[in-house]
Amino acid sequence: MRIWIIGKRGMLSQAFQRKCRERGVDYLATSRLEVNVEDESAVRAQFETLDFTHLINCSGYTAVDRAEDEEQLAYLLNVVAVERLAKLSKKHRKKLIHFSSDYVFDGEEESYREDARPAPLSIYGKTKEAGEKKLFEHYPGACLVRTSWLFGREGNDFVKKMVTLMQERESLHVVSDQRGRPTYADDLAEAVLTIIDQSGIFHFANEGAISWFEWAEIIKKKLEERDVPLRCKEIAAVSTEEFGAKAARPRSSLLVTEKFSAPHWERGLEEVLESVIKAK
Ligand SMILES: NC(=O)c1ccc[n+]([C@@H]2O[C@H](COP(=O)([O-])OP(=O)(O)OC[C@H]3O[C@@H](n4cnc5c(N)ncnc54)[C@H](OP(=O)(O)O)[C@@H]3O)[C@@H](O)[C@H]2O)c1
Repeated sequence: MRIWIIGKRGMLSQAFQRKCRERGVDYLATSRLEVNVEDESAVRAQFETLDFTHLINCSGYTAVDRAEDEEQLAYLLNVVAVERLAKLSKKHRKKLIHFSSDYVFDGEEESYREDARPAPLSIYGKTKEAGEKKLFEHYPGACLVRTSWLFGREGNDFVKKMVTLMQERESLHVVSDQRGRPTYADDLAEAVLTIIDQSGIFHFANEGAISWFEWAEIIKKKLEERDVPLRCKEIAAVSTEEFGAKAARPRSSLLVTEKFSAPHWERGLEEVLESVIKAK
């Protein structure tokens, strides 16, 4: 087995690289500077020259609010590039693993199984859903993993944003009427490596449904326990409407993860906070 990981500096990509090193799995990770997925000939050349058995596509357009103004770019990365990777992976007989999001759902249900019907609310969600369709249209044997509320040692995720804001501001407003399951990128990478030869749709998220507000309060408590100096005295719970983000988000997007025994996010949060504090 040799894995080509598309994406080098992204949050999930770095988690995969770490897990591959830990498990002694042979891999190669490429950044957008080495292989740009927008460049069809560069991608095709890689399929023709690189020796690999599995492709893990960690690339994508992930800026949920910005996507509302950059639909074309989001479409290029989340749909056109995925279609291309699906066609080439099938043609060259490579196993393809691709990622999608809880934001393909509208949040009207409490939770979502793999066969639930997507009904995205945002441009980001719409491009992710369209990417899912292209993936299976061109490569029915592909593997699609939906995940939610990703956080990790790398990347600019909610946890790191909160740590920075809590050090800078006296009060924060955080949305309390959206619920999800935070997912530690390292746990996701580890889980995916166990199903790497399978086909179909898989949901993976950590145990522990929570609102953004509750998530922020837990982060604050953990920082205080570690004696990290914070300016933040108060976190105010606000509604989605009051917060006024550009993109609409599902009210509840709990992924049902019956195909895995998903660990709780607690250990992942401890690891991330340790590495964030050390780096400060
Ligand atoms: N973040 C979340 O909360 C979340 C939730 C659910 C699902 N997901 C899905 O999980 C996957 C990974 O997300 P992430 O949070 O790890 O993303 P991320 O940190 O934003 O990283 C994006 C990756 O895409 C690569 N990339 C962007 N444009 C590229 C291009 N033109 N050519 C080649 N590579 C390009 C970047 O390459 P470089 O290495 O060169 O920077 C980077 O590695 C995505 O499919 C995302 O939709 C994320």
